[in-house]
Formats: sequence, C-alpha cells, structure tokens
Amino acid sequence: MLLITPTDWGSCADIRGIAGVCHDHGIPLIVDGAWGAHLPFHADLPPWGMDADADLVVTSVHKMGAAVEQSSVFHLQGDRVSPEVLKQREDLLGTTAPPHGPAGTHPAGRGAAPSRTHPQGRRRDAGAAPDG
Ligand SMILES: Cc1ncc(COP(=O)(O)O)c(C=O)c1O
Repeated sequence: MLLITPTDWGSCADIRGIAGVCHDHGIPLIVDGAWGAHLPFHADLPPWGMDADADLVVTSVHKMGAAVEQSSVFHLQGDRVSPEVLKQREDLLGTTAPPHGPAGTHPAGRGAAPSRTHPQGRRRDAGAAPDG
C-alpha cells in the first residue's frame, strides 16, 4: 500500500489506522511523506510514518526540511520490507538525482535539528545517498 501523507496542502491521513489494516492483511505500508520532513520535530504536529507503524517512509528533505534539492531519504523499520529489495527498487521511489553533497545540508546532518530516537528505523535506514 502506498499512502501519500501529508499532501502538499497539509492534509494528513490516519497512518496508524491504515497501517493496522494493511498489517492485518500482511501488506506493508509505504508512506510517501515527501511533504512531511518537519513532522518528527514538534509534538503538536501529526505523527509521521515512523511513529505510526508505517514500514517505509520516503521524505523529500528539500521540501519542508530545509535541505537543498535533491535530498530524498528512505526510513525503514520492521521486517515487512527487506532492505535488499528496497535497494533494488529504490529508483521507483527515490528522487531522480542521487544526492551526495546536498545530503549534507539536511538539518539533522548539520546538527541543527533535534535528535529523535527511532532504534529500528535508524538501524535499518537505507540512507540518502545511493552508490551510483
Ligand atoms: C507527494 C509527492 N511525492 C513525491 C514527490 C517527488 O519528490 P522529489 O522531489 O524528492 O523527487 C513530490 C514532489 O512534489 C510530491 O508532491
């Protein structure tokens, strides 16, 4: 299941509820969170996918995260999506221009954003900069 949330207008879906339905049917939930890079950093904002049981979240950090283009990152948790399969298919989900320098402008990379603890997601994060 691919869920786009938030939209570019700011509407947010019930990620946890949708994840529950997906998981009850053995389906992984992939969140296109292109517009949600800011969500993890304030308690009054709606939850982002990693805090709401999504299996994979793709975020365009160059949109709401103050990084320069093209800074798109995967966040992966749990075992419903294998990192190997994600790596093979990243061209379907990732930004079209593999970033190297731009990834360093991510606020978290600069130490400018509050740190969060997502043990599973961090351990299996597929990263922003593919090999090629
Ligand atoms: C919902 C959504 N997903 C993905 C993208 C593309 O992301 P990127 O700019 O990282 O290629 C956009 C771009 O506007 C978008 O609105």
